[in-house]
Amino acid sequence: MKTKVRRMRESEKMTFYRYERAEMYPSLTAADIGRWYDGIGKFAYRYYVLMDDRGEMLGGAILELYDFLKDGRAILDFVAMWIRQEYQRQGLGTFLFKEALRRAMKEIPTGALHIETNTAQGFYRKVLPAGFKEMSIEASDETITFFACPL
Ligand SMILES: CC(C)(COP(=O)(O)OP(=O)(O)OC[C@H]1O[C@@H](n2cnc3c(N)ncnc32)[C@H](O)[C@@H]1OP(=O)(O)O)[C@@H](O)C(=O)NCCC(=O)NCCS
Repeated sequence: MKTKVRRMRESEKMTFYRYERAEMYPSLTAADIGRWYDGIGKFAYRYYVLMDDRGEMLGGAILELYDFLKDGRAILDFVAMWIRQEYQRQGLGTFLFKEALRRAMKEIPTGALHIETNTAQGFYRKVLPAGFKEMSIEASDETITFFACPL
């Protein structure tokens, strides 16, 4: 058999996704795989903002469903966390982290977290529940740290 690798065409992406996800996640329905591909339903990004009482945005968080545990519960990923600079180190990030996670978990049964950061290692070491695992790699001018944390 002769084979070659080339760039995937737009029209081929769904086919790839359907085969790959079906093999990797046998418990998912075809509809779930379609939702994952489209980033909708439980696979949609969750956006949360932290507002003050005058309607000013003080920060925000974005979460997504990253993967599944063997028992079917989700692994959620904190894609982004941000508190306005002048409001940092006042406990707001901790509040936002806990509240965003609580809200996401109300919609998605969750058993673990996955986080990648190059700026907020100290923050995540403080806010993650006990039992997290941490791995770092040295990139050109920064340290990238990955956290995996069972809940
Ligand atoms: C990371 C971030 C969201 C934390 O928000 P925050 O409101 O400052 O966090 P908190 O005040 O709740 O901090 C809780 C604890 O986390 C740790 N922490 C927070 N910022 C830290 C820092 N820059 N260095 C070391 N530890 C830090 C501290 O232990 C802190 O407790 P303490 O102030 O009593 O010592 C905020 O600093 C931020 O938006 N940074 C810029 C964007 C960013 O790096 N986002 C993360 C990318 S994944």
